[in-house]
Amino acid sequence: MASAASSTAPAGMKNATHGVAPLRAGEGVSFLLRRLHSLSGIVPVGAFLFEHILISNSTAISGPDAYARQVSFLANLPLVFFLELFGIWLPIAFHALYGFYIWYRGEGNVAEYPWAGNWMYTAQRWTGGIAFAYIIWHTWTMRFTGVDLHAFPNASFGKVQEEVFQTPFFLFYVAALIAASWHFAYGIWLFSAKWGIVSGEKARKRFLVVCLAFFFVLTGAGLASLTAFRSRPQQPYEPGSATMQSTQAAANQATANTEGR
Ligand code: HEM
Repeated sequence: MASAASSTAPAGMKNATHGVAPLRAGEGVSFLLRRLHSLSGIVPVGAFLFEHILISNSTAISGPDAYARQVSFLANLPLVFFLELFGIWLPIAFHALYGFYIWYRGEGNVAEYPWAGNWMYTAQRWTGGIAFAYIIWHTWTMRFTGVDLHAFPNASFGKVQEEVFQTPFFLFYVAALIAASWHFAYGIWLFSAKWGIVSGEKARKRFLVVCLAFFFVLTGAGLASLTAFRSRPQQPYEPGSATMQSTQAAANQATANTEGR
């Protein structure tokens, strides 16, 4: 871990195995894309991950109703489709696809990556890859197939439960949670080193501890939410089922009452 905290490599240190190279101007479009890739990892992709794990999914700890209210709140944000498209899907697609390109190029151009000998360099790539596989699957099953949670937010808790009660899927959730949390937490450290926000060996080492603590907070909150889904009996999630219709009708009535006040 200490090796990763070593200071930014000076310009001439091409073959060094440690240190994180600062992003340098003068490399044309590639420089701009590297900066955009780096920034997109924090905003909006990182900000989204923060909200998704620490705010939205944590409401599951308070139970199905609290979770349904949170999903309903998000689903009713104005222009929600465009918020998702420009705030989540396109930035993730850009960060991921350019991330794979950096990964691919890095293997052939190790001299350009002074920290290539570092296991954290490898971990940053593999955790991104695991997160990518999970994000595709998770978006497909939660957003684009099965019951539409924007139309039936009350089905949210049950729909997630239906997945996490199946051991292979549960393990996939846990692996992806750890991978994404690590990628983001260590990514914050990388970002700060590359943009010169935290400079000096001592400050970087201290900041690495802060990022490590953040990794545990993210992972811990995610595991607490997963435990909340697994510790309650399966909730209904098929819109056609009688229980679902009555709970949805009650929710609609509650919304109408609130709006009518
Ligand atoms: C869970 C969503 C993701 C978040 C929150 C995220 C966040 C970040 C952050 C904050 C960084 C540090 C920026 C920097 O290097 O200056 C980073 C770096 C990186 N990300 Fe992601 N990322 C995500 C998904 C992915 C995916 C799916 C890939 C695809 C492989 C990926 C590939 C990379 C690579 C290769 C780097 C290192 C770039 C370098 O060494 O210069 N990321 N990410």
